[in-house]
Amino acid sequence: MKSTKVTVSKKRIEEYSGELLVAIVGRDNKGNLIGEDWLKAVLEGLDKYKEFSGKKNEFIQLYPLYEQTKTTLQCKRLLLVGIGDVENDLHTYQQKELLRIIGGEIAKVCKKNTIGKICISLSKRIGYKPSDLAEYLTEGILLGVYQFLKYKNKSSDSNDVYPGLKTIEFRGATNMAKVRQRINNAASYASAANFARNMANEPGNCWTPTHFAESAKEIASKNALKCTVLDSSAMKKIGMGGIIAVNQGSKEPPKCIILEYSPQKKRGTILLVGKGLTFDSGGISLKPAAGMMEMKYDMCGGAAVLAAMEAVAHIKPDVRVIAIVPSTDNMNGGGAIKPGDVITHYGGITSEIENTDAEGRLILADAMAYGKEKYHPDCIVDLATLTGAVIIGLGHHHSGLLSNNDDLVKQLVVAGKNTGEPLWRLPLGEEYAKQIESKIADIKNTGGKSGGCITAAEYLHKFVGDTPWAHLDIAGTAWNFTEKSYIPKGPTGVGARTLIEFIKQWNR
Ligand code: BES
Ligand code: MN
Ligand code: ZN
Repeated sequence: MKSTKVTVSKKRIEEYSGELLVAIVGRDNKGNLIGEDWLKAVLEGLDKYKEFSGKKNEFIQLYPLYEQTKTTLQCKRLLLVGIGDVENDLHTYQQKELLRIIGGEIAKVCKKNTIGKICISLSKRIGYKPSDLAEYLTEGILLGVYQFLKYKNKSSDSNDVYPGLKTIEFRGATNMAKVRQRINNAASYASAANFARNMANEPGNCWTPTHFAESAKEIASKNALKCTVLDSSAMKKIGMGGIIAVNQGSKEPPKCIILEYSPQKKRGTILLVGKGLTFDSGGISLKPAAGMMEMKYDMCGGAAVLAAMEAVAHIKPDVRVIAIVPSTDNMNGGGAIKPGDVITHYGGITSEIENTDAEGRLILADAMAYGKEKYHPDCIVDLATLTGAVIIGLGHHHSGLLSNNDDLVKQLVVAGKNTGEPLWRLPLGEEYAKQIESKIADIKNTGGKSGGCITAAEYLHKFVGDTPWAHLDIAGTAWNFTEKSYIPKGPTGVGARTLIEFIKQWNR
């Protein structure tokens, strides 16, 4: 799908003669509807009939040309959206989320009525800054209109295919430059998430480690990032025994993808690591057939990291950001690792394989140990669809957050709130680390039934030492995330926007 153009225009609302005009309407403490002057007659009419109260996320669609509304509007449809009390005490992150959700609802109206161009009126009277309205509505709309049609033939009779939103035009802004800047911000957040969704939607046969690497190279060449791809022989040479082990049962060559963003002046280095498991069959410890198809999404951590890097290259923060995506699939060919095997990770730690389905930690461990040694990061943040256990613990409404550093946790939790991708911290601890002690190697790759999300994190913990580190287990949120208007079914792109926000706000 072509990307949506978002513009700001000086033209008057009354002159807009397109398909859909959107106006946000609030209410005062007496319950009266509040909106722009040009809406006066419409709001008076609605007040009389009591069919629209302007409460949060309430919608009404009108047809000004057909109705006796005494307005001079020329648009085909007028969509009024309630935003609730003009004097609200919502926290800023709640305001942002409400606007994104309204944006998502607007996107649904566009999809339903096959609307390609819309105009949104920015009001100063409804308790929200016009620049905030523009930014978060845009983000919600762009995330909401997302669809993945790459593998569908365009058959003439399929009316259900939405050709996409071509333009969003904002009118009524007084500070156009500011609104423009905020819109661009929204577009870079949304396109990062949508890019991550695109990678995730690709089937396992079309999105192999090689494709992942090619995509990273393309991003690098377009955006002045440095890209290095370690292939199988390079990884063997330096001892990345985890990635090599997981790849042993596969015909697809593994890749370790490294992207570097280095500004001239830097305040430090952030290392991002994303699990790029392009299909997880479980290996010899084979997964059950039901739901196995979803394991093409086991690369969502890597996708989020890659997508965030592209946005970082646009936003140009004054911090160095390194991204590593270890990538392979987990198959059960003749060479596959077996329960009982012992492998050696980058840096020398040995690990006994108890279950070949606990493969994510094996590839992440190499990447984290390598990244730590090579780039001396000030912090490490890894994202991975790592455990089913995090879904048992937190369901689909929070990503798991495990960390050895309270300050890093604070910053990530704020970033998650601000982007509508909430994180919930789970503990680490000696007692959990004990569960992954092995009789014959330094550690083993499973920690028993209890605390599965935590023991997985303790495995990673062994490879970061004292470096401030946070692990985001996104197994419950990378798809099947909380139902929201701006998150269509399928992969969510979770983490990409959180990472961008985190990097922008990062301070050590
Ligand atoms: N990719 C899976 C985790 C997963 C499960 C993600 C369900 C999303 C939905 C991971 O590689 C895995 O298989 N983990 C095992 C670990 C176990 C064998 C210790 C799990 O969670 O069952
Ligand atoms: Mn697995
Ligand atoms: Zn996996």
